[in-house]
Amino acid sequence: MKRLRLILAAAGLLLAAGAAAQPALVTRDGVTRFEIDGKPFVMFGGELHNSTSSSEQYMDDIDVWEQMKDAHFNFVIASASWELVEPQEGRYDFSSVDHVIRNARKHGLKVVMIWFASWKNGYSTYAPGYVKRDPKKYPLAEDKDGKTLNVLSTFGKASLEADKKAYAALMRHIREIDPDHTVIMMQVENEIGILGGPRDYSAAAEKAWKAQVPADMTAYLTAHKGHLYPELEKVWAANGYKTRGNWEEVFGKSFEKAEDWKEFPRYTEELFQAYHYAKYVGEIAAAGKAEHNIPMYVNNWIKQPGMGAPGQYPSGSPQPWVLDVWRAAAPAVDMIAPDIYANVFEWTLGQFAMGGNPVFIPESRGDTAKALYAYGEFDALGFAPFGFDGPQEGNFFGVSAEDFARLGACYGILSEMGTLLPDNYGSDRMRGLLVGTDNPTPSVTMGDYVLTLQSSVRDRRAVNYGQGAEQMAAQNAALAARAQQQAQSGALVIQTGADEFYIVGCNARFSFQSTSAKDGQVLHEVIEEGTFKDGAWVPLRRLNGDEDNVTIMGVGARRIVLYRSTVGK
Ligand code: DGJ
Repeated sequence: MKRLRLILAAAGLLLAAGAAAQPALVTRDGVTRFEIDGKPFVMFGGELHNSTSSSEQYMDDIDVWEQMKDAHFNFVIASASWELVEPQEGRYDFSSVDHVIRNARKHGLKVVMIWFASWKNGYSTYAPGYVKRDPKKYPLAEDKDGKTLNVLSTFGKASLEADKKAYAALMRHIREIDPDHTVIMMQVENEIGILGGPRDYSAAAEKAWKAQVPADMTAYLTAHKGHLYPELEKVWAANGYKTRGNWEEVFGKSFEKAEDWKEFPRYTEELFQAYHYAKYVGEIAAAGKAEHNIPMYVNNWIKQPGMGAPGQYPSGSPQPWVLDVWRAAAPAVDMIAPDIYANVFEWTLGQFAMGGNPVFIPESRGDTAKALYAYGEFDALGFAPFGFDGPQEGNFFGVSAEDFARLGACYGILSEMGTLLPDNYGSDRMRGLLVGTDNPTPSVTMGDYVLTLQSSVRDRRAVNYGQGAEQMAAQNAALAARAQQQAQSGALVIQTGADEFYIVGCNARFSFQSTSAKDGQVLHEVIEEGTFKDGAWVPLRRLNGDEDNVTIMGVGARRIVLYRSTVGK
């Protein structure tokens, strides 16, 4: 499975390889790792709530830096907002950024900084007042009925220039104050795209919609014919692989309604809108890189059940089926990254890993099982739950204290594994497993063994001791909620010898079979619980007798040695 993905990655476009002595995405043999000073840096962290980094005092009050250290973070995603960076036209103020960099450095953490500027979750609420108040100069997108949206139009030249100028100033400033690269990566804008419809219908957009598909787009299509995302290849082929014509001539008239959320309604409009977002954001990223060349990515609000059409999720956003468009129009953007809140984790990672795009998850719920799966199965560069820094008024997103503690324990183990983790990126000797509602017993074959995972948490019901129906119902609801929490079950497995495996698991119970029907039962020679320290395994108990099973409650690690016995033969 992993190997197949690598072949596909090698056939696709490989991403920018950077110079050694700074943060860079480095692709070797079809495998991309994030490196700092030429050494792999697997990222363990989380994203702050949107408003947290606007105040140093607030961050101190909630002791957020200590929280991150305790949870074994090595990076944090914090935001820089355009309205604070440029409070008045042409006057920049970087104090909201400086304190984040200064405190991160003090606590030995790296920073991924989000540029909340022209767009945030589709809308343009982070633009400075001078932009918001002048829609003539900084035009807004329009819906089909000609109503303006609170979304800057990608066709606003002045908006692009203003955003670009501010971002370039920010990157210049970071270069000046951050020679040791505390800031390792930038996210340019946030969850961009049009909501409510498939595209912008303003006059400028209408003109572009009827115009020829731009030459850089058709040149890219020609150069990558046969290696495009399957749906793009399909619609382009169905229209005769045209290299001239307007959007509907080249890609066809798209259908409106889908039967299934995974289909592609309004695809031509989405391609069009993606091109114009990519062009705009690509220029901003390029201007920033010209000042300070560190990796830059774009994140997105993903397609999911109930939000299968562009406009239900932001249209034009960097989704895998428009990745080719983004690569054509925004070569300065290094990767596209999913924000995964919906229960479509495996499918989403499979999509985002296509075409050699490295997997990086800047936002998610704080599910440790999913983190293990992402690192183990998709060689994730990094994982980050959104809003680990406590509940916010009027915002139900965020990580529970229980999830945060569990994820911290997991990061604690993974971050002490040394190079064992990144050395196994791209290799079938490292795998990830995730229990899902439709897959309660996932299994993988590694060498001579089939490893099967199931949740180590059993469903429990309240004991009836005559407490009455209402109380019973309340107790059962509490138990169900707890079971739901604990149901997070997943693992990362690394094979280090023919019979030896290291497992980092969350609520995980393993069973083993041989790949050969000739063998008897697979039995355990050694089961050790333990952890890693500075890249070395540190055993704690040797498990046998009543504990002769590979069962992890909560988060933990095991070293196991198996053998294929004659028992049962
Ligand atoms: C996704 C966005 O990207 C985040 O900035 C945040 O708004 C979360 N949704 C939810 O609060």
